[in-house]
Amino acid sequence: MRKLILILLLLPVAQVFASSGLHLEPAQTNIRSKESLRNGAKYYMNYCSACHSLKYQRYSRMAKDLELSEDEVMENLIYTDAKFTDHMTVTMTDESSKKWFGKAPPDLTLIAKAKGNDWLYAYLKGFYKDPSRPSGWNNTIFKDASMPHVMWQLQGIQEAHFEEHEDENGFITHPFKEFSKVTEGSMSDEEFDNTVRDIVNFLDYTAEPAKLIRLAYAPWVMLFLVIFTFLAYMLKKNYFKDVH
Ligand code: HEC
Repeated sequence: MRKLILILLLLPVAQVFASSGLHLEPAQTNIRSKESLRNGAKYYMNYCSACHSLKYQRYSRMAKDLELSEDEVMENLIYTDAKFTDHMTVTMTDESSKKWFGKAPPDLTLIAKAKGNDWLYAYLKGFYKDPSRPSGWNNTIFKDASMPHVMWQLQGIQEAHFEEHEDENGFITHPFKEFSKVTEGSMSDEEFDNTVRDIVNFLDYTAEPAKLIRLAYAPWVMLFLVIFTFLAYMLKKNYFKDVH
């Protein structure tokens, strides 16, 4: 029994070591911040929704969860002839997008669950100029992605530098080293990071809208458990008071 408890306690530590292979900067999103989610939704609708759908999410549900009015959504966030209660689909057909990008842009409703927030954060910050690619862009964490850098005006244009690494078997790899800015964007690095963080936060929300409710209930559930434990303990004490 004691061994089992020890293993359970050490499990999180083991996980940290197991995942340390990929060094991703933590996205540090905060799903409780409605302001961040609303800002993420705004940038998502402006910069991503032309190509990517969020087909398991409805505008009306988003409005309710993010505390936006129907008018705000209709006027500021919907650029197509979609209705308030529609799913957030995309007007471009898979066929034409395949023709333009070589690949259809995937639906992003569940992408935060599939890839993780840190991955998304690194991906959206990882676009760099690469004239050898058809789009003129490449990405440090998704090599040869067919998505162009859609936020280059905000971030500016960056170049990526790689180093040469040879392992003991003589196998040569070129891991990413650092970026250098070629042209400045309209945002400072910090502003851009925050904007990307908000977009990732929004995608984290669409992947599980119930997370907001779950987190809101969490303190009450914990409180219940504490009170219940106390009651159970008192009851036990009472039952056992004559047992010697
Ligand atoms: C011009 C069209 C276009 C726009 C706009 C666009 N994307 Fe993409 N995106 C693509 C395409 C095409 C792919 C597929 C890339 C591939 O598989 O090579 C993709 C792939 C992705 C992926 C990787 C999905 C996976 O399965 O690994 C993510 C994440 C993503 N896009 C997020 C975004 C976000 C967030 C925005 C807005 C800031 C955005 N995209 C804007 C075209 C677009």
